[in-house]
Amino acid sequence: MIKVAILGYGTVGSGVFEIINENKELITANAGEEIQVKYVLDLRDFPGDPCENVLVHDYNVILEDSEVEVVIEVMGGLKPAYDFVKSALLAGKSVCTSNKELVAKYGAELIRIAHERNRNFLFEASVGGGIPIIRPINMHITADRICEITGILNGTTNYILTKMDKEGADFESTLKKAQELGYAERNPEADIEGYDAVRKIAILASLAKGKTVNFEEIYTEGISKITAQDFKYAKAMGRSIKLLGKCKNEDDAVVASVSPRLLSPQHPLYNVNDVVNGILVRGNMVGDLVFIGSGAGKLPTASAVVSDVVDCVRHLNVSTTVMWEEEKLALEDFSKSRKRFFVRTSCDKSDIEKVYGMVEYVDAGIKGEIGFITEKMSEESFEGKASKLGNILSRIRIED
Ligand code: HSE
Repeated sequence: MIKVAILGYGTVGSGVFEIINENKELITANAGEEIQVKYVLDLRDFPGDPCENVLVHDYNVILEDSEVEVVIEVMGGLKPAYDFVKSALLAGKSVCTSNKELVAKYGAELIRIAHERNRNFLFEASVGGGIPIIRPINMHITADRICEITGILNGTTNYILTKMDKEGADFESTLKKAQELGYAERNPEADIEGYDAVRKIAILASLAKGKTVNFEEIYTEGISKITAQDFKYAKAMGRSIKLLGKCKNEDDAVVASVSPRLLSPQHPLYNVNDVVNGILVRGNMVGDLVFIGSGAGKLPTASAVVSDVVDCVRHLNVSTTVMWEEEKLALEDFSKSRKRFFVRTSCDKSDIEKVYGMVEYVDAGIKGEIGFITEKMSEESFEGKASKLGNILSRIRIED
């Protein structure tokens, strides 16, 4: 029997506890050993909850118990998660986590510590909720150079964009619903402004490139400026608006970003709606692979965490995680990256054409403004022209 401890009894932690108990037989068969939750750590008490008998408030009880072989960190945030995880690995325990903040910031270091001790530091649930994506990149797409990863990586914003698009729902009430459903971060600004998605694309990019991609160096724009009018134009273009995390080889450089994009129906992620996440991985040999599934929520995320626990139990003294070096990967300056832009402006056509030259107009039947699509140009060239034109109401990048 393998004893494990769960750090944090929130949405994901309670899901992990539930799955380990509910699917006990099956998980025992898959892991080759029974998995028993010896401790749940939380500051709070949970009278009447099944975790009550194993609840502790002091982390040292877990750290000093040599019977605990796997620590499951589902607290979120960096403090005290980083110290807890590092000390568990240093004490020779394996760690599974859903904590994208932790993995994006300290992934390389924690992987190295686990390697040095023949233990595992696994983080399948940190990206894409229940979708297996970390393990496929580590274990399966190993014969390819990965030249692009493009993903809808945040369930909350995809849920909000879908409801605004399909039901004309308003931003605030839809966000509240996403919070009630357990999709949103404690501070939902992390979802809305793209801070969650940028950590996830940084994790995927670091795995794909084998070096640390610093999330703080990635251009990040959220969905807070997207309006009902933007959706009217998107409809007129036959496109959908999605918040995409991207990491792509362009010429000899790597460009990464998080921003809302207009997708055509031919794009594999066009129809990825609600809380669902979708990740396109392009390899130089295999071509395109697309991973789709529940991107947030208690049981999907907990399911990914428990799959890591099973993996740890199957490989108790073998480190299975591929290395991702602490050395930083230099990213291309985002302002050099080229694409087409959709623009709404209150200027007239002659001004638009004087500044942007040939454009394609989009008619959404909205009075007092004009919508148009530019030719392909760099970010910096677009911004220069936009300030020359003035009166820009909104602009969204076209995903070609
Ligand atoms: N708030 C995150 C999301 C949770 O909405 O995707 C899953 O990481």
